[in-house]
Formats: sequence, structure tokens, C-alpha cells
Amino acid sequence: MKFNIALLAGDGIGPEVIDQAVKVSDAVAAKFGHEITWKPALTGAAAIDAVGEPYPDATHDICVASDAVLFGAIGHPRFDNDPTAKVRPEQGLLKMRKALGLFANVRPTFTFPSLLDKSPLKQERIEGTDLVFLRELTGGIYFGEKGRRDGGETAFDNCVYTREEVQRLAKKGFELAMTRSKKLCCVDKANVLETSRLWRETVQAMEKDYPEVEVSYEFVDAVAMRLVQWPNSYDVLITENLFGDILTDEASVISGSMGLMPSASMGTDIALFEPIHGSYPQATGLNIANPMATVLSAAMMFENFGLQEEGKAIRAVVNDALAKGIVTEDLADGGKAYGTKEVGDYLAANI
Ligand code: IPM
Ligand code: MN
Repeated sequence: MKFNIALLAGDGIGPEVIDQAVKVSDAVAAKFGHEITWKPALTGAAAIDAVGEPYPDATHDICVASDAVLFGAIGHPRFDNDPTAKVRPEQGLLKMRKALGLFANVRPTFTFPSLLDKSPLKQERIEGTDLVFLRELTGGIYFGEKGRRDGGETAFDNCVYTREEVQRLAKKGFELAMTRSKKLCCVDKANVLETSRLWRETVQAMEKDYPEVEVSYEFVDAVAMRLVQWPNSYDVLITENLFGDILTDEASVISGSMGLMPSASMGTDIALFEPIHGSYPQATGLNIANPMATVLSAAMMFENFGLQEEGKAIRAVVNDALAKGIVTEDLADGGKAYGTKEVGDYLAANI
């Protein structure tokens, strides 16, 4: 097959980890007889510096004309320390999610056999964890009206959901649950928030269409606790934007490093693949960042094209590198730490 992939490296360690994912994807393509044409485009602080905005129209045009988007990371501390900044790199990410209609963020959490002792959590609790978050990505408090009033003394962020937004996300959740263990957990705060009550009511009304799926409704605070206590008790979890953002960072602790966790953002049309970690500015250019989350995001990209074997080949080589200790410093545990590029070279050479 032939693919055009938009390549949005972004900021911080983004370009370094993206380089490795490209290398590994090209190796997979060569092995299985595919041809990938990469279409680099600007985003984030890099785009602000170059053209004054974090998600330029030219980048959007490249994305919509491609078969998928592979994304690195976005964010720069120079904006974090300046709350008055008018344009922020993160706005580019949000604008892109909205413009590409990427309403469902698929964030799997799983363990790697050779890393069970890397998690701060007890091995017997996390062993065999295999759960998937479906985080709603284009609604909620991220996109509601926000601002300041009273001469700047009062700030507000509105959380808004429509029934239709909940339905389309929940539908993906039910469908995914049907392909797995038929267990779905709706995470909300329905004892306090009106938007959560809409979520719960909407999901409850959909239960009759999926009689085989066992649905539970749990409050987000309780899930935050149970997730690290008994991760094995979950399978598919659906939740709104901000809860999903927070819980998936927490869940990454189960696998041993945030540098391992991939994600896919899906919508009606094009899909985007990105690691769940951020731009890790302190590590920029140091060749120390873990490229595996981005490499595994590329595996999800192949799988989304229906190319299961290609995805499997990437997962296998990542497992092999982990088992042999060919890892970056986040996983080296006092042993030898390999560079970002060296890990990428190993993965590409051993596909
Ligand atoms: C993520 C990130 C983003 C988010 C930031 C960078 C805006 O944390 O993808 O999880 O909050 O969605
Ligand atoms: Mn996040």
C-alpha cells in the first residue's frame, strides 16, 4: 500500500522521537512492501516562531490531504511562565483536534512483561493490566467559554457537553467493549456536575442497544484510586476531556514509564497518532527521551490501516528491546542508558 502521512514533530523532544518513529515505520514499510511519503508540517511553538500561529492553515491542508497524522509533542516553557501570552502552542493542538474532528482519544494502558518491576505499584496488582481509555477530545472545559471578568479578578472556564457529543464517544466505547471483555465503565462526577449527569443519562439510554455489555458508572475520584489499586478490574473506560487527560497520565504509571504510552485520536475521517507524553523541554536535543511511545503510536497507525501484522512487528521489536535492556534513561534503573537515536536504530534494524 501507499500512504501519505502528515508529520508534525512539534516542540521539545518531539522532533527527536518522531525521527525514530519514521525510521521504524520506514523499516516496517520496506519489510511488508509499503511505501510511505512523509509530509512534514509546522505546529506548536515551532510554528509560532516561524509563522506566528501554532496550527497554520498550511499545516491543516497537509493533514486533511494525508491518510493519517503522526504527531510528536507540543509546548514550550517560555509560554508556561507567561500567563499573559496571547498565543500558546497548546492552542494549536486543540485547534487541530477540533479542525480534524478528532473527538475520540484512544489511550491504551498495558504492561510489558520485562518492566513489571519498574512500576512503583506492586507487581501482583499490575500484572496483566490491559485497559483502554476513550477520552472525549473536542468538548468539555477545554472548549467551553473561558475568560476573566471584574477587571481580571474573576476567571472562568465553562464545561459544556451536548448529548450528541456524548453519544458518539459512548458509541465507540460500546463498540470497543464488544470486541474485548464486554465491560464498560463510564467515569463521571454525576453527584456534582450537570454535564456528568448528561453523560450518565445518555450512556444509560444506550445500554439497551448493547445488551451484552456490562456497564458500570463510577465517580472520577473513586476511579483515580481504584485505577492504581486494582487496575485489572477495568477494561474499557469512557470519560470526558479533562478527566481523561488526568486519569491517563495516572495510568501510565502502571506500565512503568510515560515514555511508553501511545495514543490514537479518531473522528469521522482522518486519525492522528501521538505519544501521550508532552514535549519534555528539559531533555530537548539531549538524545535521552524515550522514543517508544511514538514508535508504538506508529504501530497503532498501521493497525488502524488494517495492517495488523505490521503493528505486531513493531510491538514485538519494542518488547525485544525492553527485554534486552536497550532502553533510554527513564527505564535504565542505574544500568546502561541508550540514546533516543540508538534505541530507534535498534528497533529499525531488528524489525
Ligand atoms: C495531552 C496533553 C494536552 C491535553 C495539552 C498539551 C494541551 O496534556 O494530550 O494529554 O491536555 O490534552
Ligand atoms: Mn495530558
